[in-house]
Amino acid sequence: VERVFSGVQPTGNLHLGNYLGAIQRFVEMQKNYNCIYCVVDQHAITVWQDPKGLQNAIREVTAAFIASGIDPKAHIVFNQSQVAEHAELAWVFNCVARMGWLNRMTQFKEKAGKDKEAASVGLFAYPALMAADILVYRATHVPVGEDQKQHLELSRDIATKFNNDFAESIASHGFEEGFFPLPEPLIQGAATRVMSLRDGTKKMSKSDPSDLSRINMTDDADTIASKIRKARTDPEPLPSEEEGLKGRAEADNLVAIFSALSGRLVADVLGEFGGGQFSTFKTALADLTVAKLSPITAEMKRLMADPAHIDAVLADGSARARTIAAPIMNSVKDIVGFIRAK
Ligand code: TYM
Repeated sequence: VERVFSGVQPTGNLHLGNYLGAIQRFVEMQKNYNCIYCVVDQHAITVWQDPKGLQNAIREVTAAFIASGIDPKAHIVFNQSQVAEHAELAWVFNCVARMGWLNRMTQFKEKAGKDKEAASVGLFAYPALMAADILVYRATHVPVGEDQKQHLELSRDIATKFNNDFAESIASHGFEEGFFPLPEPLIQGAATRVMSLRDGTKKMSKSDPSDLSRINMTDDADTIASKIRKARTDPEPLPSEEEGLKGRAEADNLVAIFSALSGRLVADVLGEFGGGQFSTFKTALADLTVAKLSPITAEMKRLMADPAHIDAVLADGSARARTIAAPIMNSVKDIVGFIRAK
């Protein structure tokens, strides 16, 4: 069976990059796949989170999923810590993955900064938990932004090594040869890497100290318009051809955002705005962003006013996730050679 899994960290400041690179794509996937969308709270605590803030952020990501159009009844929306099988499988994967593999992860290097000795062990082992998230459902497709590509490759390496290391045991228990599928990253669309509005060479991120660098999913219309007006650009007008965006990171980024929000091709967007003043394009982009985001923001607000309802959605999704994960985890235990009550 084909199954989609993806996750978003509840670490505050959900932004336009998260929406265009991930959440908007999650919504589209619902038509053709069974989807499981996870609020990865266990990943969040790899760096310190204030407990009250974490609860709020978990609910906010859930609200963003639902407000954007994910149907938690037809599909599964839940938070990671309610399904113990993620952490259980992650332990097995910690023993499959090699130190050398994890040492190569660029996200760890970025997040740990200069003082690697002071980083949490969880931050280092993060990608093994991510592999477990996906494979505990034997998910086949994973929609993510460009920045998760390396982690997805590691998930495939872990799946491959598990399948090889335990090949005999997998066969002797009557499972098919590749017990774990190799999950396929779906990095698609016009905005797989949305850049900072202040610096076209840095990606838009939750942790950028400048709030002007990103459009938050909770920003109101005035804030969005003012951030786009202030977005850094070069002095040239927009080019009429895609070629002309080369070497112009800021212009390229704004056009990509327009394209992703409108569903129009970049060539088509440049056909309309190329040669014209940047300010004209920025006004159109601000209008488009507000038109797209404000109904979602309003719905998120409405949902956040009823935390008990959000918690009930998560509890229901977690129970349904567990019914898929538990038998797969039991098979893993049998394959590895653990003894369990039957
Ligand atoms: P996270 O929480 O950092 O980001 C959530 C999703 O948003 C995408 N994204 C972006 N896309 C385009 N432009 C940007 N500037 C941008 N910033 C973020 C991310 O690529 C991601 O798809 N490790 C993951 C969470 C995770 C996960 C998983 C994902 C945990 N387990 C299993 C897939 C499958 C993360 O930290 O995403």
